[in-house]
Amino acid sequence: MTKALYPGSFDPVTYGHLDVMQRAQKLFPHLTVAVVENPRKAPLFGTAQRKALVEQALEEMGIERVPVITYSGLLIECAKGLGVTAVVRGMRAMSDFDYEFQMALTNRDLDSGVESVFLMTAGKYSFLSSSIVKEVKQYNGQVHKFVPRCVERALEEKFGLA
Ligand code: PNS
Repeated sequence: MTKALYPGSFDPVTYGHLDVMQRAQKLFPHLTVAVVENPRKAPLFGTAQRKALVEQALEEMGIERVPVITYSGLLIECAKGLGVTAVVRGMRAMSDFDYEFQMALTNRDLDSGVESVFLMTAGKYSFLSSSIVKEVKQYNGQVHKFVPRCVERALEEKFGLA
């Protein structure tokens, strides 16, 4: 059975990510979520907290049997180490396409045995991003439609709103 990896920064995880996880798990029962240790942008949350929030969010959503790991370095090395042959990425709008196209073809060039698979998020989350959630919460706006309660609480603590 094909093993799949859903990698990302998850800074923090949103309902958009969780929607992709649920869709991916239907296709790939052996799905692992991988939280990158050093995202390109300086993260708001440290690696351990981003991982813990994904785990708590999965639990809150009742999504079972999805292990969460962290990785540093190349994604393709992480995938190979786990014996994974499919990398899942969420696609929201055309604005995601250029980066995802570049990343997928780079990863294929690094290892042609790992295929990238793109899943469209639900329309209601198509505008959603971790950055938007952080910006809204930073100014004490409502984010309960965008993230699970555990993430909202972590954001409130981070921004001194708790
Ligand atoms: O949630 P993000 O930030 O869009 O996820 C991007 C991520 C973490 C999947 C990607 O940046 C990554 O895998 N980085 C690790 C380094 C790597 O493998 N780079 C080559 C792929 S272009």
